[in-house]
Amino acid sequence: MHVDTDLVHLRAGGTSVVILLDDGRLPRILHWGDDLGGLGAEELDAIARTGRPAIRDSLVTYPQPVPVLAQLPEGWLGRPGLVGDSAGRRWAPLFLVAAADVVASADGVTLTVSAIDESYGLSLTLELSVLEASGLVRQRARLRNDTGDVFRVDGLELALPVPAEAEEVLDLTGRWALERVPQRRAFDVGEWVRTSRGGKPGLEHTLLLAAGEHGFGFRSGKVWATHLGWSGNQTLAAERTPANTRRLSAVEGLAAAEVELAPGDEYVTPWQYGSWGDGLDELAARFHRHLRASPGYPAGPRPVLVNTWEAVYFDHDPAALTRFAEEAAAIGAERFVIDDGWFTGRRDDTTSLGDWDVDPERWPDGLRPIAERVRALGMDFGLWFEPEMINLDSRLAAEHPEWIFDAGHGPGLPSRQQHVLDLGHPEAYAYVLDRLSVLIDEVGIAYVKWDHNRYLLDAGHTPTGRPGLRAQTLAVYRLMDELHRRHPGLEIESCASGGGRIDLGVLERTQRVWPSDCNDPHERLEIQRWTGLLVPPEVQGTHIGAGESHTTHRSHPLSYRAEKAVWGHLGVELDLLTESDETKRELMDWIAFHKEHRALLHSGTVVHADLSEAAARLEGVVASDRAEALYAYSLTERPRTWPVGRAGLPGLDDSLVYQVRPVFPAGERLGEEQPPWLADGAVLSGRVLRLVGIELPSLDPDRSVLLHVRAV
Ligand code: DGJ
Repeated sequence: MHVDTDLVHLRAGGTSVVILLDDGRLPRILHWGDDLGGLGAEELDAIARTGRPAIRDSLVTYPQPVPVLAQLPEGWLGRPGLVGDSAGRRWAPLFLVAAADVVASADGVTLTVSAIDESYGLSLTLELSVLEASGLVRQRARLRNDTGDVFRVDGLELALPVPAEAEEVLDLTGRWALERVPQRRAFDVGEWVRTSRGGKPGLEHTLLLAAGEHGFGFRSGKVWATHLGWSGNQTLAAERTPANTRRLSAVEGLAAAEVELAPGDEYVTPWQYGSWGDGLDELAARFHRHLRASPGYPAGPRPVLVNTWEAVYFDHDPAALTRFAEEAAAIGAERFVIDDGWFTGRRDDTTSLGDWDVDPERWPDGLRPIAERVRALGMDFGLWFEPEMINLDSRLAAEHPEWIFDAGHGPGLPSRQQHVLDLGHPEAYAYVLDRLSVLIDEVGIAYVKWDHNRYLLDAGHTPTGRPGLRAQTLAVYRLMDELHRRHPGLEIESCASGGGRIDLGVLERTQRVWPSDCNDPHERLEIQRWTGLLVPPEVQGTHIGAGESHTTHRSHPLSYRAEKAVWGHLGVELDLLTESDETKRELMDWIAFHKEHRALLHSGTVVHADLSEAAARLEGVVASDRAEALYAYSLTERPRTWPVGRAGLPGLDDSLVYQVRPVFPAGERLGEEQPPWLADGAVLSGRVLRLVGIELPSLDPDRSVLLHVRAV
């Protein structure tokens, strides 16, 4: 529908966005958040009138509201919108809207705005949607060069405004085996900027940049957040100007001359997403609903897997691994994944990446026999690849040194002794596609664990030396898309030394992410909790690791390791050939418990209680009809005061009555001094459970108890 008014109200999925389009200016968001209901033209007009600030002090300082693509000639002195030029000219664009349309579909409602800068010969199309399944907002821009001069794009940044109530900024940082560590600060004047430059979002990537009311938590406090659906270089920024404009912006990071638009060429930005909620749980639930409604999202029960990595590392022995697979099937696994170490010459991490042939010495009969045995045992078969990487010590590097990124100083610093294969070479791309595709068919691979262990640094394309980072991300997307096209039903896991490539771009093409190489439940609790701001449990890989963690060397009983793993896409990553029968029986019980509850865990709403005790965690999943829930109460340290006290159970239906009882999937026991109610459970209304709560069990540090809740 063609828009001929100055104001547009987009409503879907419980979200309203009110947009001003007056004077031919690019869209300016007046409200983003709560659904405002059906608004008449007069009320919309009043929103615009009452939202206009006084202009004083300075003629240059841009008065609110600011367009989603901010422009310097309009007086904006904050983070720039479009940065680009034609050899030093056409560097300060000013777009005016030529047409606007609103289209409603089953997916949501979309405003499309076409704008032009006639003097510069540039056209711009902005799309802004509010999505029905989730209430997420997403927007992107398409820029076209209409003249004879090449136009170079250095950045095209879009922003979503947040109101003055947004006083605190939350983002995440991290490192290897400790991804997603939260940090908070006041939303002061200035810019809080998080940038990824390594050709992937990275282990330290924030996933989301959020701004909310003072002290916002999981259950309360208005909060807004942005995310960029892109697996390459990028910046997310929270900016507050001296004129009190507050925005969350996102921009793809472009290296030198990566986007040069010849006449008629276009550049399309990745989607910038925006979510909001009363508390982080509601904000995260929008991303979860969005993914769950996306094409290609895994349907049906997530197969419990056994992965060989921390069990055997590079020590591949077909007979032993076949026995391993038999043990896996016996404890209830449904997928068997052979990790790194199966291809020609790979004995450690110094050689052979790129030589994607089954190692004839280790696997003289190939992988087919073990894959067939795995299938005969009722499991499907998965295999590890690192398609974008190459070791200098490999046949591939000897044959095609020109396929290794090089910006003029050779292949550059190794990382984990490896370098990056430039998929911008059509032959390199074809080689990798062919090797994966042939093996997927020959061996019968249902699941590819797709790893990525080196950042891209001076990633120059040979022989020009021009940056190949953006092209690499696009090539990876094409590669994954093509593999899915050729092999319907194939699942791919996005792993990058753990959680180094987690974003909505890669999640359009992968059915699982690996949040971290750390299987220590003490760390996993936090890593999964914060990864969960974006990623639903069923696509977070969560493994039961060894008794002594291989990354932290902390030791935990199986009950705690298993409890922290049953919530996600469950896996087992320990040596089943050396574990005791007792441990295997317990594993079997936990896997059975997971299978019994995974329909709930993988479709329900994730909830977290905001507890005053810093060492206490109470989180769970509530069924979408709120008739059932499972919670875990854990202590990460010894609490400051004892007992911790009462806590409400979040997310239940006030009007239902529930039976609450502790569950012990493998017959665990709690210490004797427990609140009396634990012995027989309790029956209470959802309202009482929310407002009054229950006395929390008594736990040692790094221990937990599961509480099962069912409507009676
Ligand atoms: C890094 C991954 O994160 C691990 O899970 C494992 O697959 C190794 N690479 C294998 O080299």
